[in-house]
Amino acid sequence: MTTYHSEPHDFTDKRAGYERLAAQLRGLLEGETDAVANAANTAALIFDVLPELNWVGFYFLRGGELVVGPFQGKPACVRIALGRGVCGTAAARRQTIIVPDVNAFPGHIACDGASQSEVVVPLFAADQLAGVLDLDSPRLARFDEVDARGLERLAALFVQASRLAELR
Ligand code: SME
Repeated sequence: MTTYHSEPHDFTDKRAGYERLAAQLRGLLEGETDAVANAANTAALIFDVLPELNWVGFYFLRGGELVVGPFQGKPACVRIALGRGVCGTAAARRQTIIVPDVNAFPGHIACDGASQSEVVVPLFAADQLAGVLDLDSPRLARFDEVDARGLERLAALFVQASRLAELR
């Protein structure tokens, strides 16, 4: 990896913003397959570039439950059962979930009281659930479908680059 330079990104055109972010992530992960290292850099890049976030990170499926992985933000709850909270629900449904208001989501697990909205993207390795990528925002309704598709692409780049079997 070459030295990382933080650049202000213009997300006025969100699709174009995610295109640039995907290219940047590809460069950041190039030539590295270590899953923890790549998860750490993926979370750090997203947290640095995407506006209005207070938490970004990974939960990996280990021993049948989600266990927190590399992240940026305040300390978080460590273990989440499948079907619990937004993360466990996205993992159990194997679907991206956008939550415009976390206070209105039954069973939401509050880690950082500042979080108002959330998006969770499941990760798949060889069609098997491997974990989730979770983003929280202090602004209500921060995430829309363009964010969801953009983040799914970033999650796929992370999965393709990394040996996730190391984490089990
Ligand atoms: N809010 C999540 C828990 C993880 S934290 O946001 C980092 C949930 O309900 O699953």
